[in-house]
Amino acid sequence: MARTADDETIELGFTGVGARGAGLARRCLTMEDVEIRAVCDVQDRRLDAVSERVTDEGRPAPNTYHDHQEMLAAEDLDGVVIATSWRFHLPMAIQALEAGVWPGLDVGPASSVEECWSLVDAAEASDARCMLLENGCFGRDRLSVLNMVRHGLFGEIVHVECGYCHDLRGRLNDVSGTSREDSARELSGGRYFRGIQHEKRNCDLYPTHGVGPLATCLDINRGNRFLSLTSTASKARGLADWGERHLPEDHPSRGLDWRHGDIITTVIRCANGETMTVTHDVSLPRPDNSKRFMVRGTRGMWQEEQDAVYIDEQSPDHEWEDFADYRDEYEHSLWDAYQETGVRGGHGGADYLVLRGFVEAIKQDVRPPIDVYDTAAWRAVSPLSEESIAQGSEPVAFPDFTNGRWMTDEPIFDPPAAADDDRVSFDSLLEGE
Ligand SMILES: NC(=O)c1ccc[n+]([C@@H]2O[C@H](COP(=O)([O-])OP(=O)(O)OC[C@H]3O[C@@H](n4cnc5c(N)ncnc54)[C@H](O)[C@@H]3O)[C@@H](O)[C@H]2O)c1
Repeated sequence: MARTADDETIELGFTGVGARGAGLARRCLTMEDVEIRAVCDVQDRRLDAVSERVTDEGRPAPNTYHDHQEMLAAEDLDGVVIATSWRFHLPMAIQALEAGVWPGLDVGPASSVEECWSLVDAAEASDARCMLLENGCFGRDRLSVLNMVRHGLFGEIVHVECGYCHDLRGRLNDVSGTSREDSARELSGGRYFRGIQHEKRNCDLYPTHGVGPLATCLDINRGNRFLSLTSTASKARGLADWGERHLPEDHPSRGLDWRHGDIITTVIRCANGETMTVTHDVSLPRPDNSKRFMVRGTRGMWQEEQDAVYIDEQSPDHEWEDFADYRDEYEHSLWDAYQETGVRGGHGGADYLVLRGFVEAIKQDVRPPIDVYDTAAWRAVSPLSEESIAQGSEPVAFPDFTNGRWMTDEPIFDPPAAADDDRVSFDSLLEGE
């Protein structure tokens, strides 16, 4: 829906107000230019909890719905934040676009490449635009690294690595006592939605936390693009082994034939010659939660797990340097301003920034920082890796969701070149409230 300059307040709906959706709604309650107009969830207790939180903050009670389409039809929303279980994200985003409402989708896999194309088609036919709420792209360190890449600190980028490495064996085995309740389970065949995907699919199920921040460094869809990938799955043993040791004999997760390999390794080739390794690792023991970021260029490298940088002919020979020393020097202007105005909670402050990106893009009616082409390309890693694994790690071509636009589009997350640029300005993210 076209907005006018007088429209000061953005009216948002929220579909899926579980752990994540409710958290994002709480972040929005700190924004004076956002009203939570409506919330939708299949579980009443989730609706009640969010409504109570909204009114506790002295805001008007949101209208509540059990059905996303019904909410879109009944309300005059500017945007809708979608944080349901994964398989509903893209269909719901398409419905929003068809209703002229901007969808902000939380992260997860696409179910199929066709679904990604349908999302792109719906966005191109709509006055509204779509944003992936990939908070990982807004983290302080990630934006400093982007700045280092832009300043040529690492020379020409040749190879990058990332992943989603987090021991989720308990959650994926669907141990009772988690916060997921019956009506949501019915939508996933009676099971926690992430667990059922691990039982039925063999692919990288959570690519965007790793791929997103590095795609910005490589200018994917803006002068570069993903060309093809190969993906390889190890055997699947971790979830069954954990279940045998921790679950009662009659637990529904005991004896499942898990298809999802414990370690999925995907290698993406880019049009400009770089390679990106993406690791999905959630069903074996590990003590930490890591994205395993690494950037390798002709002049240096960054390795997140060691929190270290090495710069050719600058760092002492054979010695890592502290990343923090470089981060301060290459602080992104957005984070300079954010630290002055006060960093707000949620993934180190990134949740607030990603939501501001969404809200400001709606207000200014310009392309959001992570647009529909990024959403399609990053989430398509899942079905493409599924196809490659099914074919014995054969290379699979990436569709060009931009239809050639990638060759001339401007880099993401850089200041717009002109005032009439059709991209959201980062300077406006903290000023707009
Ligand atoms: N960006 C991040 O850092 C981050 C962190 C955690 C979770 N997530 C993502 O957020 C999403 C939600 O995860 P969660 O942990 O909050 O799960 P959750 O199970 O706590 O919440 C999902 C909610 O969606 C509701 N729901 C499911 N299907 C629905 C439908 N068809 N219509 C209406 N409501 C529906 C459920 O009832 C539930 O309340 C997932 O995509 C997850 O990957 C992102």
